[in-house]
Amino acid sequence: MAEFLKVGVLENRVKKMGKKIKMRMKSRMENKKRKVESAKSNKEESFLTGIQGFDSLVDGGFPTGMATLVEGGPGSGKTVFCLNLAINACKKGKKVLYMSFEEPEFRLRSHMKNFGWDSEQYEKNGKLMIRRFNALDIARSVEALLSEAKKELLIDVQPVLIPKDFEPDIVLVDSLSSIASAFSGEESRFRIYMEQLFRYLESHKITSFLIRETANPTHLGGIFVEPGEAVSFLSDGIISIYSVFYETGRRGRALEIIKLRGTDIKRMVMEANIVKGKGFVVYNTPLKGKYKLT
Ligand SMILES: Nc1ncnc2c1ncn2[C@@H]1O[C@H](COP(=O)(O)OP(=O)(O)OP(=O)(O)O)[C@@H](O)[C@H]1O
Ligand SMILES: [Mg+2]
Repeated sequence: MAEFLKVGVLENRVKKMGKKIKMRMKSRMENKKRKVESAKSNKEESFLTGIQGFDSLVDGGFPTGMATLVEGGPGSGKTVFCLNLAINACKKGKKVLYMSFEEPEFRLRSHMKNFGWDSEQYEKNGKLMIRRFNALDIARSVEALLSEAKKELLIDVQPVLIPKDFEPDIVLVDSLSSIASAFSGEESRFRIYMEQLFRYLESHKITSFLIRETANPTHLGGIFVEPGEAVSFLSDGIISIYSVFYETGRRGRALEIIKLRGTDIKRMVMEANIVKGKGFVVYNTPLKGKYKLT
């Protein structure tokens, strides 16, 4: 009888353990499912540039609402990089605003055409807006708004910058340096304006890429303070495009991601180029040989 009882108790225990194991497995499966779903939804919320060879440097892409500086010297390829990114975003159904403070709209359209990118199609269907702005007009409007706002120093950047009736997912600014020069002598105003702009982009969940011209990449030890320097600390990410000068006399291009808050990045200077009929290309090869970055 005692034996029989023991067997019964054991059977019950096994049954209970089985139940527990099943429940644990079920909860583990549910947790896993939840994690995958959350990762999926995070992925959906992040933005991949579609630039050849670039996205593998950024784990999971740019989270929505991030502001990234695209910096580099003259002719390094900042505009081509951003135009390439703009057309790729349009292809994915995103609404894109390209704000130029330098080249006129027709020239940017022509650059895109040269690479075989049909910007007109997206401009017609309202997915793309390429607009040239006058930085001096902006500086004047900011001044007027600031004198109205007086102590608060809070201005509404929308009427000064983002066109009405267009709600973009992605904004490209070409370039912050041009805006900064229009504020020359009024650096504190530029700073206030930038703070408002970055806040606006973030609160409207707009992912932005802002070009900044650098005579010398700042992190390479340059001591010269450039126009627009104030924005470095406001940005979530920095992409540097370099012009490479090899000892052999050859010139090349390279790209590096300096920072991207909350994201794992490949920290390496990668070979890059601007390829006819293709656009901006990042190669899966770190820079080799003797060279200087400019
Ligand atoms: N269709 C094309 N095919 C190949 N290379 C091109 C093409 N269009 C432009 N390039 C190259 O890209 C370079 C300029 O790139 P981009 O205009 O993006 O530079 P940038 O960094 O914006 O310069 P800036 O500071 O003067 O605005 C040119 O000097 C040219 O060598
Ligand atoms: Mg340019």
